[in-house]
Amino acid sequence: MSIQIIPQSEIDILELVKRIQQGQLLAIPTETVYGLAANAFDEQALKKIYRLKNRPENHPLIIHIAPPKIEDEQSVFWEMELSRWSSDVPPQAIVLAKAFWPGPLTLILKKSRHVSHFVTGGQNTVGIRVPRHELTIQILQAFGSGLAAPSANRFGRISPTTAQHVWEEFSNFIGDESLTILDGGQCAVGIESTILDLSRIDLVGPVILRPGMITAEDIFSVLGREVTTNLHSEIKHSGGVLGHYAPQTLLISKETDALCEADFINGKIGVVTFGDVQELQKRWPTQFVDWYSLPKDPNIVARDLYGLLRDLDIKGYQKIIFDQLPTDLAWFGIQDRLTRAIYGSGQH
Ligand code: TXA
Ligand code: MG
Repeated sequence: MSIQIIPQSEIDILELVKRIQQGQLLAIPTETVYGLAANAFDEQALKKIYRLKNRPENHPLIIHIAPPKIEDEQSVFWEMELSRWSSDVPPQAIVLAKAFWPGPLTLILKKSRHVSHFVTGGQNTVGIRVPRHELTIQILQAFGSGLAAPSANRFGRISPTTAQHVWEEFSNFIGDESLTILDGGQCAVGIESTILDLSRIDLVGPVILRPGMITAEDIFSVLGREVTTNLHSEIKHSGGVLGHYAPQTLLISKETDALCEADFINGKIGVVTFGDVQELQKRWPTQFVDWYSLPKDPNIVARDLYGLLRDLDIKGYQKIIFDQLPTDLAWFGIQDRLTRAIYGSGQH
């Protein structure tokens, strides 16, 4: 396949819009992870996404849309924009859009009849979000429509948070596709958006299908309504597959203080810790263990998690141990990704 990385300083927005209109794929930076994007109304281009990702066609794609321009009246803008995609926009969607967009929240709404089943994986709902990355916003505003984009990784693998990661995912792909990767730097949030289902809000209230850095509490504080979480919904979504976001090296979770000799008896290990690395090194020298330190700050851990797992995965460790995460709500999205990465890991 022909694959090209364009640095931010060399980006020509109108040229990129032309490529989208021609049915080409773009890897776009967002604040969460890089997306593999195509015109949401171009079925041939959408097919390329499924093929490149090796993703089942019944897994729906999120449609990314532009935010209002500064002079636009927000409520009117969201009302009109969401009505293009959804036949039934609940007032809560407008409230959430005003509070969190552009930002890492995806809303699931009843789809309008213009949105093809191809993008929704055959469901009568559609996922919409407004990414918070200047470059991608410029492209969306110039394009004037929606870009369907899943994370730009092969199915089941760790999502990419840099342009280089996207390159690593697809550089070995055989085919005559062409892919343009836009280098917008490292993603600021680092794990995928929170997915909130509003399509049955009258019946069951707002339901989180995939946790992220916008928490149930954040949503509650804006809506004043109880938010439930359903990580096992019947809807097909990749984040719902248990083994996902997974490194090939065996990954386990264990408190660093509980490390013991049996952990590295079969070879060197990599350990990610919240503890004091200098102290830990005195107990377990680097001959057995490579230490990686993280601050106990959920924003930083989310931002660096996927990049770190990718780096550790190519070191040839016998296994990777990840320190136990704090249990408060701010860590819930990170815990979800780590649990799935652990479950899917170790399958060389
Ligand atoms: O942060 C993100 O959401 C990133 C960036 C690129 O925007 N995108 C992303 O896309 O994570 P993807 O395809 O890797 O995960 C999107 C998830 C999938 O699990 C998909 O099934 C779910 O969103 N989804 C999309 N439309 C849906 C719908 N109508 N109902 C339920 N789930 C839906
Ligand atoms: Mg994904």
